[in-house]
Amino acid sequence: MEKSKSEKIMDIATKRGFIYPSSEIYGSKAGFWTYGSLGTRIRHKWENEWKQYFLSLNNNFYEIDDCVLMPRKVFESSGHLKNFNDPMTECEKCHTRFRADQLIEDELKKDSAGLKEEELTNLIKEHKLKCASCKGQLMPVKYFNMMFEVKVGVTGDDVMSLRPESAQSPYLAFKREFEATRRKLPLGLAVLGRVYRNEISPRQGFFRLREFLQAELQIFFDPEKINEHENWEEIKNYQVSIYSDKKLKKISCKEINEKLKVPKFYAYHMAKIQKFYLEILKIPESLFRFRELGPEERAFYNKIHFDMELNLETLGGFKEVGGLHYRTDHDLGGHQKGSGEKLEVAIDEEGKLKKFIPHVLELSFGIDRNLWALLDTNYQEEKERTLFTFPANLTPMDAAVFPLINKDGIPERAQEIFSELIKEGFTVFYDSSGSVGRRYRRQDEVGTTVCLTIDYDSLKNKDLTLRDLKTMKQIRVKRAELKDILSKIKKGAPVSQFGEYL
Ligand code: GAP
Repeated sequence: MEKSKSEKIMDIATKRGFIYPSSEIYGSKAGFWTYGSLGTRIRHKWENEWKQYFLSLNNNFYEIDDCVLMPRKVFESSGHLKNFNDPMTECEKCHTRFRADQLIEDELKKDSAGLKEEELTNLIKEHKLKCASCKGQLMPVKYFNMMFEVKVGVTGDDVMSLRPESAQSPYLAFKREFEATRRKLPLGLAVLGRVYRNEISPRQGFFRLREFLQAELQIFFDPEKINEHENWEEIKNYQVSIYSDKKLKKISCKEINEKLKVPKFYAYHMAKIQKFYLEILKIPESLFRFRELGPEERAFYNKIHFDMELNLETLGGFKEVGGLHYRTDHDLGGHQKGSGEKLEVAIDEEGKLKKFIPHVLELSFGIDRNLWALLDTNYQEEKERTLFTFPANLTPMDAAVFPLINKDGIPERAQEIFSELIKEGFTVFYDSSGSVGRRYRRQDEVGTTVCLTIDYDSLKNKDLTLRDLKTMKQIRVKRAELKDILSKIKKGAPVSQFGEYL
């Protein structure tokens, strides 16, 4: 039987060093993955694009970093210890555990988000759903808390929690950062880092993990100004794709504000997020949409919640890769109460001192999911090769350098060029083994933008051939112009701009 697209991508991803199961030689645990050499590169490029784009939305947005282990009290105040639960059912016979809402969605194609334990149990009974592993009877559904706990210190009496979202760090840092950044709102604090959730049944390969990465931006703002944004004019006519009532609509930010009653501050960020997907990540427009979540579906801390979804063939349709969350003063209010520290701000407005707890708009992205989406949407099979057509700003390798043969000064020249490019900050791979045709195929398979071959003529003419991943065509370029050409290609210029095809 032919392998599925997902299996084929996973084969390349594990074999070529994008991702592979963590602690593999000891038998890995579901939901834990290693980023290999190529995976780490593509991840850093994605993270850099994310930072460059979102931190430049306002001159008062910054990145911070924090510990992943935090006192339990933090999550008492945030509500996670009480509310961060998923429904679980267990097989009476083989004791396999399942997330009840997912089981129902998979088997009955029915959305059961937000249903109570008894309602989920009744659905399972009514439709005679059985254990997917051994067909055994399933036990009544119980809610299960997804927080991981860790014993700290010699006696192990002190129990701390692994953060289940990066968001809490900016809330705890808010008071200091507000002072340090000269008491201005909106203030944006971003964290890119690891988070932990004890998922009941991590599945779908690389999509539902127990240790994963988030890129989140928390924007603290004055709730009285929620229906304004200083750059509103710039995006008010921009059309955003929204899926609601089982229909896809393309609707301007102005209409989102006026007809859907979504505040301008929120709608502005919808536009910016969609632009990030279409213009920076180069996701085709038809594969991106926002989906609104109703009160039953959204997280306990959200008042307005649209997810960003991408249509992923490997996962059978549109899947969540991020969310835009209006969290109100839920978190700062909770931490003010829990810690006893005042987290309200006092801002001078036209001579009057205004005191309030800032509200939060959260832009939340799952990094791993977005990287899987890049693999999914850029995978291609052609007659004689398999390739990833990553955008040039995100590919793990900007270039590969090949000496045509391994003698007569050619490898030395190729090494020189390789070192020069590395020093300039390009990601480059050196390959001197096998036929050039085979070397091309190996680079195509990992999406390397161009291959540079150094031959006898290169020694005489101080030039080399540059072969384009997408067209497989070659041009001859001067060595002195190479760095400039590669920089332009990285920014999206087509290879054909720099010479006649040979
Ligand atoms: N701070 C808000 C928050 O954490 P979330 O919807 O629970 O919201 C945000 O998570 C994003 O993190 C999701 O949209 C998804 O991309 C990613 N994510 C959530 N759970 C995940 C998991 N188990 N494995 C991989 N990524 C996950």
